[in-house]
Amino acid sequence: MFLEGILVDLVPYGQRFTEQEHRWRNNESAFWARIGDRLPLSRASLERWRQEHAERIAQRGRLEIWFGIQTKDGTPIGDIALNRFWPHHRVAMLGAAIGEPEYWGGGYGTDALLLIVDYAFDWLDLRRLWLQTMGSNARVVRQMEKVGFTLEARQRQATYADGVWQDLLCYGLLREEWPGREALVERLGLRSRG
Ligand SMILES: CC(C)(COP(=O)(O)OP(=O)(O)OC[C@H]1O[C@@H](n2cnc3c(N)ncnc32)[C@H](O)[C@@H]1OP(=O)(O)O)[C@@H](O)C(=O)NCCC(=O)NCCS
Repeated sequence: MFLEGILVDLVPYGQRFTEQEHRWRNNESAFWARIGDRLPLSRASLERWRQEHAERIAQRGRLEIWFGIQTKDGTPIGDIALNRFWPHHRVAMLGAAIGEPEYWGGGYGTDALLLIVDYAFDWLDLRRLWLQTMGSNARVVRQMEKVGFTLEARQRQATYADGVWQDLLCYGLLREEWPGREALVERLGLRSRG
């Protein structure tokens, strides 16, 4: 275990997670995580993407930190990452997807988000986190409000998803705006289901 939460733990993104990836990358979660992309992804394409991604990171010396999200009984349900990581600026972009839709809306994603934000500010000494999402992604919009991110930009009609032009929303959080994980767990009333 790496980072211990209330409903989930963040753990190394190992084989138990990659085994689920083909399913996750082809279900509804991929549509939201890949900003409106519904293209089917074959196992071969996924493998090629993994290799190319690893090569790009190695070539450019880029740093990305991926965690698997697992429930308290050890079920792998998704991933959360700090990517587009700029150590010099102490800034990173967040990305997350719970690949099992039956877990959406139950606080699991927010528990994971609080863990990774705390890790980014307190352990990695970052000073700014940001992410982007489609305007129609109500779960992320609500999550951003709950956790205290600021809507910093709205790129109008930047994505075409399911036949509709949609705005792309950019949210940011500065370190001095972060009250700390414990304060947010308390404020949001996150409780164990055990
Ligand atoms: C985004 C994601 C990680 C959030 O995790 P989650 O566990 O669903 O989030 P939470 O339950 O903690 O918070 C979601 C909030 O949205 C609310 N919500 C859920 N469906 C909603 C809807 N249709 N309209 C409005 N609010 C909604 C929930 O009730 C909850 O708010 P609450 O705590 O005030 O009740 C997860 O939904 C997911 O993986 N979605 C698919 C992939 C994706 O969108 N990735 C992010 C791309 S930027």
